[in-house]
Amino acid sequence: MFVESVVRWGLWSILLQVGLGVSAGGCPPRCVCRPEAREVICSGKYLNSVPEGFSNDARRLDLSRNRIKTVGRRQFSGLVQLQELNLSDNLISMIEVEAFLGLKNLRTLQIKNNRLKILPVGVFSGLSSLRFLDLSQNEILVFLDYTFKEMVNLQTLEAEENDLVFISQRAFFGLQNLQELCLDRSNLTSIPTEALSQLQSLTQLRMLRLIISTMPNNAFRRLQRLQSLVISNWPALDNLASNSLIGLNLTSLVISSCNLSAVPYVALRHLVYLHFLDLSYNPITVIQGNLLGDLLRLQELHLAGASLIKIEPGAFRGLSFFRMLNVTSNQLTTLEESAFHSVGNLQVLRLDGNPLACDCRLLWVVRRRFRLNFDGHQPTCSSPDAVRQREFRGFSEKELPRIFTCRPARIMDRRPQEARVEEGTTVLFSCKADGDPFPSITWISSHKNVISPTGRVRVLPNGTLEVRFAQVQDSGTYQCLAGNAAGNDSLTVGLYVKGVPQNRSIPLFMDVSWTEPSNPQAANSSAQMAKPFPFDVKTLIIATTMGFLSFLSSVAICFVFMFFWSQSKGQIKHTATIDFVPRSSMGGGGDGGEGGRFTMKLI
Ligand SMILES: *[C@@H]1O[C@H](CO)[C@@H](O)[C@H](O)[C@H]1NC(C)=O
Ligand SMILES: *[C@@H]1O[C@H](CO)[C@@H](O)[C@H](O)[C@H]1NC(C)=O
Ligand SMILES: *[C@@H]1O[C@H](CO)[C@@H](O)[C@H](O)[C@H]1NC(C)=O
Ligand SMILES: *[C@@H]1O[C@H](CO)[C@@H](O)[C@H](O)[C@H]1NC(C)=O
Ligand SMILES: *[C@@H]1O[C@H](CO)[C@@H](O)[C@H](O)[C@H]1NC(C)=O
Ligand SMILES: *[C@@H]1O[C@H](CO)[C@@H](O)[C@H](O)[C@H]1NC(C)=O
Ligand SMILES: *[C@@H]1O[C@H](CO)[C@@H](O)[C@H](O)[C@H]1NC(C)=O
Ligand SMILES: *[C@@H]1O[C@H](CO)[C@@H](O)[C@H](O)[C@H]1NC(C)=O
Ligand SMILES: *[C@@H]1O[C@H](CO)[C@@H](O)[C@H](O)[C@H]1NC(C)=O
Repeated sequence: MFVESVVRWGLWSILLQVGLGVSAGGCPPRCVCRPEAREVICSGKYLNSVPEGFSNDARRLDLSRNRIKTVGRRQFSGLVQLQELNLSDNLISMIEVEAFLGLKNLRTLQIKNNRLKILPVGVFSGLSSLRFLDLSQNEILVFLDYTFKEMVNLQTLEAEENDLVFISQRAFFGLQNLQELCLDRSNLTSIPTEALSQLQSLTQLRMLRLIISTMPNNAFRRLQRLQSLVISNWPALDNLASNSLIGLNLTSLVISSCNLSAVPYVALRHLVYLHFLDLSYNPITVIQGNLLGDLLRLQELHLAGASLIKIEPGAFRGLSFFRMLNVTSNQLTTLEESAFHSVGNLQVLRLDGNPLACDCRLLWVVRRRFRLNFDGHQPTCSSPDAVRQREFRGFSEKELPRIFTCRPARIMDRRPQEARVEEGTTVLFSCKADGDPFPSITWISSHKNVISPTGRVRVLPNGTLEVRFAQVQDSGTYQCLAGNAAGNDSLTVGLYVKGVPQNRSIPLFMDVSWTEPSNPQAANSSAQMAKPFPFDVKTLIIATTMGFLSFLSSVAICFVFMFFWSQSKGQIKHTATIDFVPRSSMGGGGDGGEGGRFTMKLI
């Protein structure tokens, strides 16, 4: 078919050129002209420069795969009807200003794979109809201000594989209709935010193979029309600032083959129109529960070749349109149904390449093994050993209840544990559980708080509860909860902490510094912090008792002192004479001098 048409084209052109000689301007030597298609094809003809003598009505000119080094000023000036010009695969290192002047109708210009280093301002003058420009695989270092300013109709600019180190702030000025931009493998060290903000019609932006390490806030401001953003192969990118994607209203986002260690939940949160999210090939270990719910319209999530070990329950809660999950080649042992908003909507699931434990948690997948689309890659079991390497598709309905089972969590040692200890002691309560899959262990305090793996009261990695430097307020019951997909078990233990009088309190009563606890780890205990006064009741009683005793003893000392003092004054009379006037009523004839006086002996 193709050969036939080529032969026919060739015949036509020979006929037209030789026999009829119609074509205006003729055909340059070594080129093939197809007047009826208005094409001039000079591809691969070892041309060292742009030839002369094109037909003025040519629509398509192919000069690719030659050895052209320069393109001169107004080189194509007569070709007003030209729509497509291909200069790819040459040795062009210099294009003069106004080289394309006059190509009023040019829509496509390809200068791919040449040796351009600089693009002087004015090179693209006159290309007001251009829709597509390919400058990829050159050695361009900078885009200067106003380089593209007359290209008001340009829709696609390909600029991959250049040595770009800098894009000037107004480089994209005038590209008011640009819809697609691709920057690939350049030496940019930061996102050219200011330059990009000129591209107000941009709908697709692809930035590949860059060495940028962070994405700052407002990196893509004023790109309100952008729908698809692809960021891929930025090996140093390990962080997305929380407002880095602000201002965007994307439907598709790819951030793949970077160094992100977590899903950038916060940066994504406002993308409520997002349908497609690809975070593949990042060292992400977990998809956390309930953090993607704002992406209301999300349909597809790809997280292939990452380091996922867990997809938490509720990971896709709120995503009622979610239909494809691609988590091929990760470290997942399971994928629980509770991760999804509704598994009924799930159509495509790539779960292959994971060390899957075939137990009750995957029963929902194996039950749907003929309905779900595995994209040609069946999930296979990794454990238990009996079903190792077996594909989901290969299980018969009869086998399922026997193989895809779980043993509910069960706490093994159920002996009652109760500890009665003095303040400051360290107490351990063990909680060992068994089950398939291996249960997780949670401890809950009597105030219904989940105890964390850090702090004075903490859960050790083996599930044991440790209370260090027990405080009176630690007293109460603690509950150990062991659970897995098949069931839960619990155990309650009791702790009673008795306060001991503090040794330093007696000699230092009234000393405020006494309230410093005797061991530093207890310094932050809540009761100590909550106390409004530096003394407790016990201290007050002791202080009062001590105060009373010391009062009594000082009174006693005072008396003793007075006694010795009085003894030492030997000359003093030991009698005191007290005069008094007797009342008239006492004794009728009492007028004697002795009558109004008595003597008291002092000791
Ligand atoms: C331009 O030439 C190159 C090299 O021959 C070729 O790969 C490319 O397809 C051509 N472009 C068009 C639009 O034909
Ligand atoms: C761009 O980066 C490449 C690879 O790192 C390097 O070989 C090249 O010299 C750089 N170019 C410039 C202009 O810095
Ligand atoms: C990726 O991140 C890890 C640690 O977060 C770091 O050790 C590594 O060097 C980073 N890789 C690159 C290419 O920056
Ligand atoms: C965001 O994009 C969606 C779909 O492309 C569109 O329907 C919606 O109007 C846009 N919202 C804003 C605020 O531009
Ligand atoms: C899932 O991801 C892998 C790896 O990126 C890719 O090859 C495959 O096409 C994806 N599957 C679908 C259904 O998109
Ligand atoms: C748990 O670990 C702690 C410290 O690592 C150890 O003291 C304790 O005996 C362990 N408990 C059990 C039940 O293995
Ligand atoms: C186990 O406990 C969790 C949390 O309390 C609960 O959501 C889950 O339904 C329980 N599982 C079973 C099988 O009882
Ligand atoms: C309190 O005194 C007792 C006995 O005198 C001693 O064993 C204990 O270590 C002391 N405690 C503190 C915190 O000094
Ligand atoms: C003390 O407790 C407060 C809050 O109760 C906490 O913010 C602080 O980090 C704690 N300090 C120490 C040393 O544990």
